[in-house]
Amino acid sequence: MIFINKLTKAKKLVQEESQYYARSARINYYDLVIDHAHGATLVDVDDNEYIDLLASASAINVGHTHENVVKAISEQAKKLIHYTPAYFHHVPEIDLAQKLVEIAPGNSEKMVSFGNSGSDANDAIIKFSRAYTNRQYIVSYMGSYHGSTYGSQTLSGTSLNMTRNMGPMLPGVVHVPYPDLYRRYAGETEHDVAVRCFNEFKKPFESFLPADETACVLIEPIQGDGGIVKPPEEYMQLVYKFCRENGILFAVDEVNQGLGRTGKMWGIQQYSDIEPDLMSVGKSLASGLPLSAVIGKKEIIQSLDAPAHLFTTSGNPICAAAALATIKTIEDEKLAEKSAVDGAYAKQRFLDMQKRHPMIGDVRMWGLNGGIELVKDSDTKEPDKDAATKVIYYAFNHGVVIITLAGNILRFQPPLVITREQLDTALQVLDDAFTAVENDEVTLPKSDKKIGW
Ligand SMILES: Cc1ncc(COP(=O)(O)O)c(C=O)c1O
Repeated sequence: MIFINKLTKAKKLVQEESQYYARSARINYYDLVIDHAHGATLVDVDDNEYIDLLASASAINVGHTHENVVKAISEQAKKLIHYTPAYFHHVPEIDLAQKLVEIAPGNSEKMVSFGNSGSDANDAIIKFSRAYTNRQYIVSYMGSYHGSTYGSQTLSGTSLNMTRNMGPMLPGVVHVPYPDLYRRYAGETEHDVAVRCFNEFKKPFESFLPADETACVLIEPIQGDGGIVKPPEEYMQLVYKFCRENGILFAVDEVNQGLGRTGKMWGIQQYSDIEPDLMSVGKSLASGLPLSAVIGKKEIIQSLDAPAHLFTTSGNPICAAAALATIKTIEDEKLAEKSAVDGAYAKQRFLDMQKRHPMIGDVRMWGLNGGIELVKDSDTKEPDKDAATKVIYYAFNHGVVIITLAGNILRFQPPLVITREQLDTALQVLDDAFTAVENDEVTLPKSDKKIGW
């Protein structure tokens, strides 16, 4: 046991804030009020230290306050805080557009359009794909999270609160099931799952969705908020081929899984030889500063004229400078490679824990990017939300910040710079947490607020 945190100031601040902060804008976990952070370490307003296993929802891949990023931000802030690229040009935005085109997967000529959030980058995918194909329908996935604007929220399929009381949503969006190897039917092989899910994918096209009126399929290469779930390679190839055969654009959302998270620069590089027509990037792009980009094949991005997709504050020079420093850091410090190595190590540690803790139903991990699924029974696979909530509370009380996905899945996405020592400490705390929950030693604080998604 490392320590039990004291939350004197934090509790007061959270109490005060609850009077004026919208509940639609925060998923409630516990009273963490962060004061400062560095690398994979967070310090709260009561001076408690934590190891961060969330990286601000995968938005801090290079670690908190990385010196290269801090330097780039401070130097740029002294030169030019903002001038809108909607009318004129500045060097950080010019350099960044070029860099993104250079590192995007595939050899086709590409272009870039900037925004302020992952959500608007996914809206851009709707706009550009419709304009280029002159078709209206978009296919996205159940269980996906694509953002919080009307367009990206329509594309999403992960929470009723994202559609409840807000409809009608954007017309022309059709959701199909996302393959889940853990919850496959009895006796199914990976190949069977790929074929079954591809047949389900094709059903709409055979009954109500004309393929020749479909603009694009948008997919997360690994579903993030859906629980860190990765479809079989064969499934991805079948969908990609179907798109190619039917003139449908193939678009990927790299907002959560891009920039080294999965052990490759881009999540889609987990599959062989797929070149997306469009991709959305955000979160870690500018180390959490508000910047997003849609990167696409040149002819697709050229299918719209201004002001079809521009924002006053997009491509901000400080954000662009931070992004250039972030990408250089990922490359120079070989963070994608480190993510692969450390992810394999962490996966093995969780698999060892699984042998001792039957509540661990599934361990999914690609890079430092894991979903640890907790269940009541390994045969029925019934989700155990209560156990997962207790595990994250125990972890928080013992200096480790981790949250849940879909209620019962531990979300393991530390900053990629996490040290081996920090990783070992955090994994030991989680191991202790499983034991404490099994022994019924964890009590949740009394609260009328719902915890988690
Ligand atoms: C896969 C994915 N796409 C898009 C978004 C939306 O990004 P933002 O919250 O920056 O709008 C998220 C955010 O969690 C995400 O995980």
